[in-house]
Amino acid sequence: MNALTSALVLALAAAVQGQSVASSCSSTLQSKATPSVAPGYVARLVANKLESPRGIKFDDAGNLLVVESGVGVTALKIRDDGEGCFSSPSRKTVVSDQDLNHGIEMSEDGSTLYASSTEAAYSWDYSSDTQATSGKPQTLVTNMTNSDHTTRTLLLSKAAPGMLIVTRGSTSNIDSLAENIATGHSQIKAFNMTNMTSAYDFQTDGLLLGWGLRNDVGIDEDPITGALYSVENSVDEMTRNGVDIHQSNPGEELNFLGYLNGTQSSNQGRNFGYPMCYSAWNTDTIPDFNGEVGEQFAIGRLGSNNSDAMCAASQVQDARLVFHPHMAPLDILFNEAGTAAWVTFHGSWDSQPAVGYKLSVVNFENGEPTEPSTSKTAAIDILSNEDVASCATADCFRPVGLAWNADGVLFMSSDTTGEIYAILRANGDATSSAGSNTTGTVPAGAASSSSTDSGSQPSSTNMASATNMSVWAVLFGLLAYTL
Ligand SMILES: *[C@@H]1O[C@H](CO)[C@@H](O)[C@H](O)[C@H]1NC(C)=O
Ligand SMILES: *[C@@H]1O[C@H](CO)[C@@H](O)[C@H](O)[C@H]1NC(C)=O
Ligand SMILES: *[C@@H]1O[C@H](CO)[C@@H](O)[C@H](O)[C@H]1NC(C)=O
Ligand SMILES: *[C@@H]1O[C@H](CO)[C@@H](O)[C@H](O)[C@H]1NC(C)=O
Ligand SMILES: *[C@@H]1O[C@H](CO)[C@@H](O)[C@H](O)[C@H]1NC(C)=O
Ligand SMILES: *[C@@H]1O[C@H](CO)[C@@H](O)[C@H](O)[C@H]1NC(C)=O
Ligand SMILES: *[C@@H]1O[C@H](CO)[C@@H](O)[C@H](O)[C@H]1NC(C)=O
Repeated sequence: MNALTSALVLALAAAVQGQSVASSCSSTLQSKATPSVAPGYVARLVANKLESPRGIKFDDAGNLLVVESGVGVTALKIRDDGEGCFSSPSRKTVVSDQDLNHGIEMSEDGSTLYASSTEAAYSWDYSSDTQATSGKPQTLVTNMTNSDHTTRTLLLSKAAPGMLIVTRGSTSNIDSLAENIATGHSQIKAFNMTNMTSAYDFQTDGLLLGWGLRNDVGIDEDPITGALYSVENSVDEMTRNGVDIHQSNPGEELNFLGYLNGTQSSNQGRNFGYPMCYSAWNTDTIPDFNGEVGEQFAIGRLGSNNSDAMCAASQVQDARLVFHPHMAPLDILFNEAGTAAWVTFHGSWDSQPAVGYKLSVVNFENGEPTEPSTSKTAAIDILSNEDVASCATADCFRPVGLAWNADGVLFMSSDTTGEIYAILRANGDATSSAGSNTTGTVPAGAASSSSTDSGSQPSSTNMASATNMSVWAVLFGLLAYTL
């Protein structure tokens, strides 16, 4: 590149960004979709051409372990190229197993890898030096097979070391088997690994953390209080007394499941409503409903044995927060200070126009969201597709798994585009430092599009970022031309 072009690129770069992270990286990877980022944040494409990347987790040497659904576990070497740039120079198969489809965990000491299929959860002895397992896998939990919702998310509790938490969804949109606690459908359980003698049976063993949870794919533990929170994919295609209300209801959920360290909570082991009761999002469109946002209501034909009274908070546990219907939350990840929880929204098939397809953050304080349960603005959008409405047909990225690297940079997988992104703060601060306290608050200007029922109108924020993105496109174009 000649001196004039260099100067032009630098000038443009300075115009686009502050000093702290580079305005562009030398990476030649091209995002399949056009990301739109909130002011103060930067998104980088780190790796692509993966096969449906789902759960992700760093090992203790900084390799990113990725579950490629239907393939197995792959270790990506992640290189920090400085100034907020990352690349992935090589990758290696860690476990080859077509049945692995989502769940992944790593022991605190980095020596045990966990992953799951629809049927079972397994562990392997693992070494980050070689990115390899040794010996045969141990089967930890079995008997989880059902159709439709087939992911089994894994989480090791830090508040209660040795407890492995496993989430299991329903076998259909409205699964009547989930009404029977003995089926194990739509439940979250914790299994004690320290005294395990043989594989646990999901249906009959384990500590019940909650049931009536349709498909809670994301789960995490607040690192300060030990409070467990899951994010739920709620029902599609539903009616109430003959009226189709699926466009504006029900809310996707953030559920509070109590603690594992011995602190008592009435939420632990409670019924959260599914398949009878659902959380209100747009209260106006629910016929004959007198509740507030976040309160539960009955669907189908109402009667003496199917009523809102049976969905009252005294009967079933309400969600702690609701999100716009059909956004499909798939992961939740707390920052170290417990001041923010990041949530991926995979995106919708049952909403016209499309909604979700984004990464948002929820402010937390003292083990709770800062927003009340009636809030419709708790999820603040940080990274989304530029034109979400087009996502039903276009090549949008679809956020799935989240992980922190050792420096507090957030990494995110997108299954349909086969990509891994890094999300940074433009001023160079760790992404993990953003949260409810004053030094790192998430940008107020980035209020979520989920605050409106349309959910997909590009906000002025997104438009502004889009302008930035087109400047970036010019930059990249120039570089491509001159290099
Ligand atoms: C699954 O659980 C059910 C109910 O406890 C039991 O009857 C069945 O044998 C179990 N299946 C397997 C494969 O463990
Ligand atoms: C797990 O089992 C061990 C050994 O029986 C026990 O000491 C520990 O309290 C159990 N943990 C929990 C959280 O129940
Ligand atoms: C392990 O301890 C838990 C209590 O934490 C208990 O419920 C479970 O049955 C024990 N498992 C075995 C195999 O003894
Ligand atoms: C659980 O952890 C929280 C946060 O450290 C602490 O406040 C609480 O006392 C613990 N509960 C028990 C029973 O130890
Ligand atoms: C309510 O009762 C009717 C008639 O007995 C029955 O068909 C229906 O399945 C019941 N609904 C629920 C939710 O129990
Ligand atoms: C507030 O955020 C800063 C970083 O922005 C962090 O260092 C500090 O620990 C946080 N304080 C609390 C109480 O979370
Ligand atoms: C570009 O992005 C930066 C940081 O991401 C933001 O501060 C600035 O306002 C944006 N500029 C435009 C024109 O949108």
